[in-house]
Amino acid sequence: MKLIQQGAEAKLYRDKNSLIKERVKKSYRIEEIDKKIRKFRTKREAKLLITAKINVPKIFNVDEENMKIEMEFLEGDLLKNILDTLPLEKSLEICKQIGTEVSSLHSQDIIHGDLTTSNIILKENKLYFIDFGLGFFSNKVEDKAVDLHLLKQALESKHYKNFEEFYKTILKNYKHKDVLKRLEKVELRGRYKGK
Ligand SMILES: Nc1ncnc2c1ncn2[C@@H]1O[C@H](COP(=O)(O)OP(=O)(O)O)[C@@H](O)[C@H]1O
Ligand SMILES: [Mg+2]
Repeated sequence: MKLIQQGAEAKLYRDKNSLIKERVKKSYRIEEIDKKIRKFRTKREAKLLITAKINVPKIFNVDEENMKIEMEFLEGDLLKNILDTLPLEKSLEICKQIGTEVSSLHSQDIIHGDLTTSNIILKENKLYFIDFGLGFFSNKVEDKAVDLHLLKQALESKHYKNFEEFYKTILKNYKHKDVLKRLEKVELRGRYKGK
């Protein structure tokens, strides 16, 4: 088993075609609370990955006691690393897919909770969504709008070069009109915060 990444809250190991995500201790948290948080996020992530009807890694095993999820290793590219290197036409095609997929996720009343290009993998021309540890079930328009708003902020900071076009293309392919309407309010709120 090979350690491939030490993220903010998890260690990621690869073992052949499996990826093991293990949530590690945070020593700045009270131990008992830390354990509860890690268990809860492990359970929640597994539940969402199993339920979501979009492309996500297959789940092989969930070990709640040890806070480990074993899933399919996706041999592809992290969107963060390639989105700005592709020809514009190709990146816009990907943004179109993001809009469609997030739309579909929201139709299933699933909020991803951390929509960034670090949590999307492109493999064989298809997008896979990962990292559902902050996700939850909700049918609220507000929660869906905030999900999109966070995606906007992530694009704005990581892919500022073509941000406007990327974001416009995503929204054009997102079909929930009520959510888009709410998004306008969410964005105004964001803009005036702290002023
Ligand atoms: N199923 C997977 N297949 C391939 N790489 C993965 C997979 N899951 C995670 N990774 C890689 O590990 C990184 C961190 O995983 P992630 O689930 O996003 O954890 P974190 O909570 O630390 O962000 C991802 O950005 C990606 O590079
Ligand atoms: Mg992540």
